[in-house]
Amino acid sequence: MRMVDFIAQKRDGGAHTDEEIKQFIREYTTDIIPDYQASAWAMSVYFQGMTKSESAALTMAMADSGDKLDLSNIEGKKVDKHSTGGVGDKTTFILSPLVAAAGVPVAKMSGRGLGHTGGTIDKLEAFPGFQTEMQVEDFIDTVNNHKLALVGQTGNLTPADKKLYALRDVTATVNAMPLIASSVMSKKIAAGADGIVLDVKVGSGAFMSDIEAARELASTMVDIGNELGRETVAVLSDMDQPLGEMVGNSLEVKEAIDVLKGGGPQDVRELSIRLAAHMLVLADRVKDVEEGEALAKDLIHSGKALQAFKEFVVRQGGQGELVDQPEDFLTAKHVIEVVAQSSGYVKQMNAAKIGQAAGHLGAGRMKKDDPIDHSVGVQVKKKRGDYVEKGEALVYLHSNTEDVATVKALIQESYEMTEQRVEARPLILDEM
Ligand code: URA
Repeated sequence: MRMVDFIAQKRDGGAHTDEEIKQFIREYTTDIIPDYQASAWAMSVYFQGMTKSESAALTMAMADSGDKLDLSNIEGKKVDKHSTGGVGDKTTFILSPLVAAAGVPVAKMSGRGLGHTGGTIDKLEAFPGFQTEMQVEDFIDTVNNHKLALVGQTGNLTPADKKLYALRDVTATVNAMPLIASSVMSKKIAAGADGIVLDVKVGSGAFMSDIEAARELASTMVDIGNELGRETVAVLSDMDQPLGEMVGNSLEVKEAIDVLKGGGPQDVRELSIRLAAHMLVLADRVKDVEEGEALAKDLIHSGKALQAFKEFVVRQGGQGELVDQPEDFLTAKHVIEVVAQSSGYVKQMNAAKIGQAAGHLGAGRMKKDDPIDHSVGVQVKKKRGDYVEKGEALVYLHSNTEDVATVKALIQESYEMTEQRVEARPLILDEM
């Protein structure tokens, strides 16, 4: 089919065949189809949507556009977890060793920070020496022998998604639901998991700010995964405020270690245990989520999950002593209070602004190749529903500079106060 007819078909609300979608992805990846035609098509999808089977075909075509990881040499069912991106999300450091300590293989590929959200790979590099690159054979051997390896996205995985994502970013078509769903799922399929647990974030720090849109995205991704033979479940979790107290690379790793030691903030613990439980169910290790949660809690209390985390850090070249003595992580020079300008209850927070504040301090990148300062970040002391006296600390900035006026302004903007008591909201909003 000619590209102009392909665009018109979608513009007029028609459905493409699998073959037409494959041809489009093949020709777009090899630069036969120019960006201007691909962007007209993406805008048509934005307005007209796609059927389930079109979304599945697009996912598969993008997954097939480059290398795919073959994990068949790893014994047992491989289950992956993917978060749609949030602020202060350190669940991967808790659930990966937890699931591995339960005997389930975790062969994980993760990304770097994007926009106001942090990235798993950047955070792990807070451990001096930690290696996030590995040959595929070593990766597979490590998982077979030790149940856990975590690497950065390498090689030529889903080049079609890379190209289309960059185009969507500048043509106001990122928010097209079927395009987001197939972009995420194509990467998961190419990374080889048998089962996928999706953590779909909802709120001011997430891609989807309202629950209905998040539900639609989650159900589209679950349908795509199941249609392509990968058992997929989704947990919708609150991202109207950061997860836990810490936002910033080594600060977040330290908080994850607290949780693995049986402490840490309640929300981080609850979400990590729930996601781990879903992974254990998909891997057929337990019969239901309740049994999975009980096993996850046991593995934390017995110290086995912490031990698995420490061994994983050492195996990948990081300083394992830091797991025992997290106070030895590099810390920022200054800890600066940002105080409440009036008394009242915290009505709501803007999590994206907290993420941006951490970014300004150096925890994220302003440009693609900027270095990261692992020591800095934001420590959130007051969250939704908390009562604050005027002059009390809302957050502490962990900073290597005292020039933090912009960051302080972002923090003040992110808090909305009220005189009325504020109802608590659940962390886990839905599961499907
Ligand atoms: N994350 C992705 O990987 N792709 C999208 O399209 C949006 C978020």
